[in-house]
Amino acid sequence: MKRLNIVIAASEVVPFAKTGGLADVAGALPKALRALGHDVRVVMPRYYIVDREKYGLKPLEEPLGVPMGRMGELWAGIYEGVLPGTDVPVYFIDHEGFFGRKGLYDDEGFSYSDNDNRFIFFSKAVMQLCKMLDFRPDILHANDWHTAAIPLLLNTRYARDGFFHGAASVLTIHNLQHQGHFYEGVVDVMEVPWEEFNPLSLESFGGVNLLKGGVTHADMVTTVSPTYAREIQTAEFGWGLEGHIRGHSHKLVGIINGIDYDEWRPANDPFIAAPFGAEDTRGKAKCKKALLQHFGLPQRDDVPVIGFVGRLAEQKGIGLIAHVIGGLMHLDLQVVLLGTGEKWAEHFFGDVAAKYPEKFACHIGYSNAVAHQIEAGSDFFLMPSLFEPCGLNQIYSLSYGTLPIVRATGGLDDTIENYDPVSGAGTGFKFHHATGDALYHTVKWAVDTWYEKPEQIAAMRTRAMEQQFGWEDSARDYEKIYYYALGKRRK
Ligand code: ADP
Ligand code: GLC
Repeated sequence: MKRLNIVIAASEVVPFAKTGGLADVAGALPKALRALGHDVRVVMPRYYIVDREKYGLKPLEEPLGVPMGRMGELWAGIYEGVLPGTDVPVYFIDHEGFFGRKGLYDDEGFSYSDNDNRFIFFSKAVMQLCKMLDFRPDILHANDWHTAAIPLLLNTRYARDGFFHGAASVLTIHNLQHQGHFYEGVVDVMEVPWEEFNPLSLESFGGVNLLKGGVTHADMVTTVSPTYAREIQTAEFGWGLEGHIRGHSHKLVGIINGIDYDEWRPANDPFIAAPFGAEDTRGKAKCKKALLQHFGLPQRDDVPVIGFVGRLAEQKGIGLIAHVIGGLMHLDLQVVLLGTGEKWAEHFFGDVAAKYPEKFACHIGYSNAVAHQIEAGSDFFLMPSLFEPCGLNQIYSLSYGTLPIVRATGGLDDTIENYDPVSGAGTGFKFHHATGDALYHTVKWAVDTWYEKPEQIAAMRTRAMEQQFGWEDSARDYEKIYYYALGKRRK
């Protein structure tokens, strides 16, 4: 098979800048594709928080001109680095006005009012950068609404540019809730023909919908689990775009995310109190002790600890948790929670911790180290998402023998096998209805099983740790999609 030139464009990439799982994927998939022999280049914005010294980023001499329609030509600087531990180049688009800010997308929850221009600028810069580097891509791989303009630009603004001749585009949807809705004037900034501004392509509700335009124009569309690929074609999960997605379902594929076992394996994790693995789980007890100590909860080996790590957003089922927390606090368990997000939730969980100091503790904030410690030290991991395109934390949990309690949706349904009390099979506990009742009874089910069938819990734990969700298989699936997209293009 031909070795491919691949450009992966993403608004966040681990370890440089991250707000969620997109960054984990954009940092890990390129490594796995590189291991398959492809020439992969990653492009992201140079936000203020990107640490140029720590990662040894070097500025390129030449500035990059980015045509922005009626805004005129704007100029970007380019920094170059590599994904740590690899030879995969990463290019950072530097523009003080657009990216020299504290947040990635918002300031304390308020979206930047020029996110349209910021990410159209970024998407166009990706195209211009290919030309400046003389890197002729076979594949332009865009991710979520931030870069969804790329497939559209390839087919319109750059359609007659011989440089991109034969290049194909792939768009991955990591979360359909966010689509990039803007006013129609951005058509002129993108410099795409006004014919595109129609409900079959780019328009929705009288404005521009970047993700919709991306779905229209991408040669292939992927999403991050097979179940989510089906769900987004329904009104419950489609956020209004289900009809459009159904119309393009012939080019839609679900590929489950992998996880980076270099980062998330308890046998080799610098953030946790003691190493452990499927063969020898003794270290996990030490991690549990350290976790309870860190959170100031009483040390009670005989009681299960339930962990939660994630954005405090409705998506993650925090409303359901809030609804039943009083009931849960009557069970014999302890809960540790790490997250930031919606203000009501930050206050609410702070109050719960004050009311039940023996049972509930939380860390409102963002901490990679604490995330690792919760994965390692908890017995169960709670992820009752209303929707979950893939979800990474439940897969990290499997790796640490921390049994997930999840709602059966999206990637949660695809990665977790439900406990079977008769045979003892399974890797976690699942419920279907997005109700507080279902959540409460499933947590109770897990906790009762912990007390009544410890040998089954121990066997599940080992089984969980033996699951493999490495990137190799998923990278092979992306590779197939790339060849397929190219084939379509070059027919
Ligand atoms: P999403 O992308 O929807 O937020 P994922 O499960 O795919 O959900 O990925 C979330 C990622 O962000 C995980 O790597 C998780 O550990 C991390 N994360 C989320 N919130 C926090 C936090 N408060 N502190 C540390 N890591 C966090
Ligand atoms: C999104 C989704 C999450 C997924 C991640 C990476 O943020 O919410 O489910 O794991 O993207 O694909």
